[in-house]
Amino acid sequence: MPIYLDHNASSPVRAEVADRVARAMREHAGNASSVHYFGQQAKSAIDDARSAVARLIGAEPSEIVFTSGGTEADNMAVRGAADGLASRTRHRIVTTAIEHEAVLNTVKALGTRGSPITILPVSSSGVVDWAGLPTLVGDDAALVSVMLANNETGVLQPVRAIADSAHARGALVHTDAVQAVGKIPVDVRALGVDLLSLSGHKFGAPQGVGALWIRRGTSLLAYATGGRQERGRRAGTENVAAIEGLGVAAALALAGLSTDAPRIMALRDRLESALLASVPGTVVNGATERRVPNTTNLSFDRVEGESLVIALDLEGIAVSTGSACSSGTLEPSHVLRAMGLAAARVQSAIRVSLGPATTDAEIDRVLEVLPKVVGRLRAVAGSRG
Ligand SMILES: Cc1ncc(COP(=O)(O)O)c(C=O)c1O
Repeated sequence: MPIYLDHNASSPVRAEVADRVARAMREHAGNASSVHYFGQQAKSAIDDARSAVARLIGAEPSEIVFTSGGTEADNMAVRGAADGLASRTRHRIVTTAIEHEAVLNTVKALGTRGSPITILPVSSSGVVDWAGLPTLVGDDAALVSVMLANNETGVLQPVRAIADSAHARGALVHTDAVQAVGKIPVDVRALGVDLLSLSGHKFGAPQGVGALWIRRGTSLLAYATGGRQERGRRAGTENVAAIEGLGVAAALALAGLSTDAPRIMALRDRLESALLASVPGTVVNGATERRVPNTTNLSFDRVEGESLVIALDLEGIAVSTGSACSSGTLEPSHVLRAMGLAAARVQSAIRVSLGPATTDAEIDRVLEVLPKVVGRLRAVAGSRG
């Protein structure tokens, strides 16, 4: 069986979730906006899922808006905040250099449309450097968007401190928590933000479903016109079956947080320390203390990350060079570059991301195969060069 260690790209749908989605497709025929029995049955299923998602992040159900995933939630937050405040004097959007493309490219698109933008730098350990924020964020800031966990390094960001600083200047605060929700405890009140994005396929729900949490009372302009679904915040008929799946995945993630996370972290740490010990020229990219438990980003001196991913794939081990959205482009990671790492180290990086189904035996197999593959690639590179 191939070994799947790319859970940050997409985590397999959990069995209980798949069962619920299949049942929902068979049994829930109605449109949740219809007044008849079938419509009300669909609405009640959506409401149950809304409560489960709210519980996972310490929110009120009425604050959850279902979306087609993390990208839509990010767009809704960033564009909604920018447009909601456009008529006023606040129009600056502040974000960080290590955001996922869903935020970064949205902010850049608003920049080309005329909004002033500020992009915060990060330290070499992959943590957002917000020391300049109090001076950078003036009275013109509409929104500060900072991710909770980076998708490539897993490094956790100082969201609370940034939120407090941004709020002191009257800006709204959004966090892209797509890589954190389901992996670590997330509490919207403790984070002190106004908007939070999450995505189902990162924690066992199907692809194509997610949510934006909108703190009650937050002014956000709906970015799409249409029906009055989701309290007028997200037009379009709801994907009832996928939303039900998201609800089941949220409940499972919440129940498993205290058991899955320590087990996954122990496997990740064993893998990491054994590779550091057995493969000379290996380094971990990003701070190792404050990370999500499932992720490690490693560079292997004198090895092309892309070649390593392909060679491991041939051995039945799936890892990646970074974000799935930018892989295949051969563009060096914008996250590792923003951390100021040397070009060779960026080019030689791979991301290994574990999940609830990852086993000890799978980690043993990686530890058996990966050092040999790195040795082989180095020998080839050496004979060429
Ligand atoms: C941090 C982060 N934000 C947003 C997204 C986009 O989410 P989705 O794939 O659900 O659109 C991803 C997906 O990789 C991500 O890692």
